[in-house]
Amino acid sequence: MQDIVVIGGGPAGLSLLAALKSSPKTRHLSCTLIEGSSLQSVRDFLVEPPEEYTNRVVSLTPKSVEFMQQKVGNWDFIKQDRVRFYDNIVAYDSQDNDARIEFDATQIGAGVLAVMCENINIQSSLIGRLNELGMDDSTTILDNTKVIDITSPIHHDLDQHDLNEIDVNSGKSDLDWPIVKLSTGESIQARLLVGCDGYNSPVRKFAGIESRGWQYNTFGVVATIKMQYEDHRSIGWQRFLSTGPLAILPLSEDNATIVWSSTPWLSELLLKVNPDIFPHLINAGMTLEEVDLKYIYSMLDKDPNDFKVLDEIQWRLSKIDIKSLEENYPLPVVELIQNSRARFPLKLSHADTYVAPRVALVGDAAHTIHPLAGQGLNMGQSDVGFLVDALEKGIERGLDIGSTMVLDSYVANAWPGNHMMLGVCDKLHKVFTTDFGPVVLLRGLGIKSLNMAESVKDLMIKAISGR
Ligand SMILES: Cc1cc2nc3c(=O)[nH]c(=O)nc-3n(C[C@H](O)[C@H](O)[C@H](O)COP(=O)(O)OP(=O)(O)OC[C@H]3O[C@@H](n4cnc5c(N)ncnc54)[C@H](O)[C@@H]3O)c2cc1C
Ligand SMILES: *[C@@H]1O[C@H](CO)[C@@H](O)[C@H](O)[C@H]1NC(C)=O
Repeated sequence: MQDIVVIGGGPAGLSLLAALKSSPKTRHLSCTLIEGSSLQSVRDFLVEPPEEYTNRVVSLTPKSVEFMQQKVGNWDFIKQDRVRFYDNIVAYDSQDNDARIEFDATQIGAGVLAVMCENINIQSSLIGRLNELGMDDSTTILDNTKVIDITSPIHHDLDQHDLNEIDVNSGKSDLDWPIVKLSTGESIQARLLVGCDGYNSPVRKFAGIESRGWQYNTFGVVATIKMQYEDHRSIGWQRFLSTGPLAILPLSEDNATIVWSSTPWLSELLLKVNPDIFPHLINAGMTLEEVDLKYIYSMLDKDPNDFKVLDEIQWRLSKIDIKSLEENYPLPVVELIQNSRARFPLKLSHADTYVAPRVALVGDAAHTIHPLAGQGLNMGQSDVGFLVDALEKGIERGLDIGSTMVLDSYVANAWPGNHMMLGVCDKLHKVFTTDFGPVVLLRGLGIKSLNMAESVKDLMIKAISGR
């Protein structure tokens, strides 16, 4: 029996555990975290990170960084030589390269806009923080352990009314504590079960919470790349192609990462294009016109190793004014780091609520978002903050932390902000992945329209900086 069982050792689950153990009000709670895969590479990263960047990289908002510094205490364990602060975003439109939305951090009254950091750097810093706090009997991490079933001990003849009675009046009764069955054969009963178990969340299914949304029929292709040299401009670049946005985000020195959102067909092609051609294809994607790109894709579709495509790209690039290339575009990409390409299906989803009696959902288990503004993991951090706040208040008032009376304030605080962010990114995606003339014209002008209360620029700033 545990006070809190957290399912999932991703960024959300480990953050929650570290935040609970950092708070004087919640640290006495007995907590067990269960992760299906091995966390060995995460622990190894703490001692000896790999030479090259791993391909799962996120953009952290200043708010998330502050949370890690002040509430969770893991920021000190982040490998600082592997993060990159950036203060500028240049977003532009493939239909009209001159239609640009540029903004820097000073426009929102801040020094930095966001920070690029590997997922594993975040996870390992959280393990580092937990080690520092001391892993005693009240803190258990079981990795390589899958949750195979979750059941409720409640008899079916007990209806919701009786359930509420149990919750509110006794509080101490374990009659309704969910039972988590593990692949190791063990079972754990939880006063509060928290699903940090990602998009397919078994906890959400157990709780019968509806999640609404849609697939974008789009994949995000990620890769680690090398730029020609280190760019001291610290700019995140994003070009909106009709197939989806292509972003180049800076890492330390001449390293960078890309997210290229595109159709199923194109994303498959991007994964199989010869690794020595791939950098040129990114350069083409960041600069050339859509008709030229289509021609280049079709050449590569016939033969992904067709090096003749390099001449085609070079010839088209040579028509662009050198000075403009240097000033208005990212530096050329010169290398793809071996085996760093991967693709992920993109979707929007939002759970109707994040709580049920003795259950809470956090992170991707509660919501998934298009990565064009780099918000997914940041939203999970904000969830963790609100959930820990709710639990602290519940404990102060002597309430049962598994009761909806305690958990409801978590939803009330976290849900509306997430919903707004989901809407903003969905709109941006829809507005940009169309080549429908009038919309293209309007977005080029960055004007207030398209049924949006704000301009495209305002939406972008709000989304990327998380304000
Ligand atoms: C291409 C791409 C780019 C992105 N870029 C950004 C960005 O720039 N900024 C940003 O903030 N976010 C970004 N995101 C989103 C971000 O990666 C996710 O929001 C974040 O990783 C979710 O973390 P999580 O801990 O909630 O879930 P996950 O990382 O999915 O973790 C869930 C964990 O639960 C475990 N689990 C599931 N089921 C079980 C079970 N039955 N038993 C045991 N364990 C189980 C899984 O093994 C997994 O480790 C991006 C996403 C994509 C796809
Ligand atoms: C990034 O690039 C530099 C120089 O090319 C290299 O020395 C460094 O180790 C690279 N990787 C990381 C993870 O910093």
